[in-house]
Amino acid sequence: MTEKDEAIMGRRSFLKHAAALAIASTSFGQICAWGQTNGDAPLRERAARKGLIYGSAVNYGALTRDTKLAASVVRECGIVVPENELKWEALRPSLDKFDFTQGDFILDFAKKNNILLRGHTLVWHQALPKWFETTVNSQNAEQVLRNHITTAAGHYAGKMHSWDVVNEAIAPWDKDKQSDGMRNSPWYKLLGPKYIDIAFKAAAAADPKAILVLNQDHLEHDTKIDAQSRAATLRLLKRLKASATPVHALGIESHLSMDGEIFSPGVFRTFLKDVAELGLKIMITELDVTDIMFSQNINKRDKLVANKYEEFLSTALQEKAVIGVLTWGLSDKYTWLSKYMPRDDKAAVRPLPLDENFNRKPAWNAIAGAFDKAENR
Ligand code: XIL
Repeated sequence: MTEKDEAIMGRRSFLKHAAALAIASTSFGQICAWGQTNGDAPLRERAARKGLIYGSAVNYGALTRDTKLAASVVRECGIVVPENELKWEALRPSLDKFDFTQGDFILDFAKKNNILLRGHTLVWHQALPKWFETTVNSQNAEQVLRNHITTAAGHYAGKMHSWDVVNEAIAPWDKDKQSDGMRNSPWYKLLGPKYIDIAFKAAAAADPKAILVLNQDHLEHDTKIDAQSRAATLRLLKRLKASATPVHALGIESHLSMDGEIFSPGVFRTFLKDVAELGLKIMITELDVTDIMFSQNINKRDKLVANKYEEFLSTALQEKAVIGVLTWGLSDKYTWLSKYMPRDDKAAVRPLPLDENFNRKPAWNAIAGAFDKAENR
């Protein structure tokens, strides 16, 4: 046991008493107050105490330009995932070329700072390079897919904690969807549903150590679409398990919205249990909370966002199969939602744990509190 481990173990028994005190108090506010006075510990450490991993998506451009961002990632994150740098568009300048420059920079940054790395994503319907449409056809699709996975997953073999092998394969809301709820993606059109099996088998052969993940959106809310998505995802996972396809975990993206999308803890909890019963691990892979429907008042907005984090994570972490949580970015300064879900009033969006100056927000306290309350893995 290292000195650091010992320190953590010592803190753990202290935390048990603190947790008992927190439970004795009734309001979440008091737990937060405790967290603020005693718990300066970063999220990665609070997660690690429970056998969990916390981290965030990182972006090459921001990471190389902004030393404050880099320092915050080092402080808070036990795992990072390149936001765009390992997608086909970034990795594949042409059919016969791979460019690992940006991915390798992030791997190096992670290694130097004792941070785990996860890969995103080997197969997706988006972020395909321009040459894809004119070059890939039903004759060569399987070989092109295998070659991509063998080379990309092979390049990082032994260095990846996990890979999102297939991303967003289910889309029951699509006009073009298949009867089984599968998205009619370019890969589905070229190869049919077996593209998923091909991808997982190729990934397992290229990197036998990585946790292989099926990553999916629209699984969290108590809506008709999300219910269809959950059912289709479970069907797909059962099919993959039955055919011994090497899938190890489900990634639940968790881009949470509050716009009429109700979160029902019981519904979500049941889904997590169903997934766990298939013998799979679960990762929360892209958590963020949009604040577009709230008033400009920053204090109010931050509080509502934090409440959503608290409600969601306290439910998710009840399931022991959940092994890690990643937010889709760390600071509000760099969030995809600035572009993809801007506010009508043009005020900056605030969906992440740190504000634009890298200060901890109520959302950070909520995540810290959820880790503090989680049972050990
Ligand atoms: C997003 C990135 O954050 C953006 O920078 C990019 O322009 C588009 O993709 N689900 C996913 C992620 O699986 O890859 C997406 O990331 C967000 C939604």
